[in-house]
Amino acid sequence: MRFGRLLHARPLVVPFARWHTRRAHLHVVAGQPVWVPPGVFDPVLTKVGAWLAGAVGELVTPGERWLELGTGSGVVACALARAGATVVATDLDPAAVQAARVNAALGGLRIEVRGGDLFAPVAGERFDAVVANLPFWPGDGADLPLGHAFGAGADFAILRRFGAEAPAFAPRVYTVLSEAFVRWPEARAALGPSFRLHRRAWVRGEWLSLWGR
Ligand SMILES: C[S@@+](CC[C@H](N)C(=O)[O-])C[C@H]1O[C@@H](n2cnc3c(N)ncnc32)[C@H](O)[C@@H]1O
Repeated sequence: MRFGRLLHARPLVVPFARWHTRRAHLHVVAGQPVWVPPGVFDPVLTKVGAWLAGAVGELVTPGERWLELGTGSGVVACALARAGATVVATDLDPAAVQAARVNAALGGLRIEVRGGDLFAPVAGERFDAVVANLPFWPGDGADLPLGHAFGAGADFAILRRFGAEAPAFAPRVYTVLSEAFVRWPEARAALGPSFRLHRRAWVRGEWLSLWGR
């Protein structure tokens, strides 16, 4: 589903997404069981999280210390841990923190999941790499189901903060965007000029791109 474009077809898509997010879902992503409780971002519905989970493994050298921001269900953190990384994952939403802990346990993985805003839970720490699938919809998302997972703030504030603050925490930084979302070039620009296209894939009717610096 071209979720980013279809969000413009609000009469159909928004009620469906609202219905979907009120229910729990169980998926298998990159060989890992993923439980998504109501109100937590579903990495399969929008494809982005599931694709990122499949893509991060090749970026990991076993033993590296990774940070995942905005972990949601923890699907990406689990993929990093399965590739041999030591992982700290964070999310602002307590329901996501709990889901990520449950999914780590389901996969038999040790992941430290902390609650809090962006880099606040890891202040003063250093990592080998940071990855995030952050909200990239303009505005606060208040009019969308799961607005906290989609709303990037005025002028893509969360992406601007991520692009500016991440280099203080790790030498390698990655984030993902969906090109089905019509304003994705503005989201990409908000990351800053040092981000380069690392990988791009056509996934069931939608270009997804991984950006890194
Ligand atoms: C697009 S979802 C991605 C979830 C998961 N990483 C994935 O790929 O499926 C964005 C996540 O970021 C979290 N989030 C939003 N704003 C945040 C902030 N300021 N600090 C930390 N997490 C935040 C949301 O709660 C949500 O779980």
